[in-house]
Amino acid sequence: MRVLVSGGAGYIGSHTVLALVAAGHDVIVVDDFSNSKPSVQGRLEALAGREIPFHAFDLTDADKTERLFAHEHIDAVIHFAGFKAVGESVARPLDYYRNNLDSTFALAASMAKYGVTKLVFSSSATVYGEKAPVPYTEDYEYLSSSSPYGQTKVMIERVLSDIAQISEGWKVALLRYFNPVGAHASGDIGEDPQGIPNNLMPFIAQVAVGRRDKLTVFGGDYPTADGTAERDYLHVTDLAAGHVAALEHLDDMAEPARAFNLGTGTGTSVLQLLKAFERAVGRELPYEIGPRRAGDLPAFWADPTRANTELGWHATKTIDDMCADTWRWQSQNPEGFPGS
Ligand code: WQD
Repeated sequence: MRVLVSGGAGYIGSHTVLALVAAGHDVIVVDDFSNSKPSVQGRLEALAGREIPFHAFDLTDADKTERLFAHEHIDAVIHFAGFKAVGESVARPLDYYRNNLDSTFALAASMAKYGVTKLVFSSSATVYGEKAPVPYTEDYEYLSSSSPYGQTKVMIERVLSDIAQISEGWKVALLRYFNPVGAHASGDIGEDPQGIPNNLMPFIAQVAVGRRDKLTVFGGDYPTADGTAERDYLHVTDLAAGHVAALEHLDDMAEPARAFNLGTGTGTSVLQLLKAFERAVGRELPYEIGPRRAGDLPAFWADPTRANTELGWHATKTIDDMCADTWRWQSQNPEGFPGS
């Protein structure tokens, strides 16, 4: 299939581009580089061994989005593009609602106009909110989120489900990610957050490479085995494979729209991840236990049964794989991708 990947220069998008090419699909990327760098394209083309067309514009521009569909043959869309920083979304709600929703509206309208009926959407475990029983299962009906970022995911899942219900032939997979970490085995692409990393793994990696002094563990008094919070960390190449599996499953999907958890089904604590990273680096890393971060939950992880049985997808990489691959990327690219 010829697949339009929105946000394909980003962390998960770029890994999915490689997985799509490896699976024999053609890829077109659209990205406004608001949270990624143009140099990603060259890295991807070198790894893929072929040209990968990039279109650089903001998907909230409905006219430009429609022109892309008018000029390019597109069989399916994988929609990653969107702002994704939880804390930033609390400070800039209108920017988050406008960007994440308007870009989705523009894509869906163009898909409807040009007869594109296959869509895979990048959703998040954050839609389960704070009261869902752990492990999270997709049939949990009280979706919510405490941040505007998470609310955009709840809303977009609903928008796309409603459109799919009344649109002939539409099939939409809503992929709820847990905690994506790691990097392509080459070390040539990886997570490259702008500014101070919000997420744990890139922060640890930047401590290891000398860009940050020490890790602050947000809370040591949680009701967990070692007192630090637990999450379901998933290797980004496993996550990318989940997108290809979902895309190739759409024709066989009975429902117009269906959610799938992409996680390992296992929780790992902050300190456990730190120790795994120290094994990858071969030395201890400096850290201190600090106060809890507002909004954090003690522990959650996926029930991945639906993705396992319906998509035939399973997470394959271990926590040590995730840390070794992250360290290879970070040590080979101490300042991230070149350029701005
Ligand atoms: C993991 C654990 C922190 C940084 C977020 C978003 C979610 C998704 C994934 C987009 C927590 C602790 C972190 C640090 C720490 N993003 N931590 N010190 O919060 O589970 O999920 O990223 O889809 O929507 O909410 O991931 O990596 O930020 O934190 O102790 O410097 O590491 O408290 O327990 P999180 P995270």
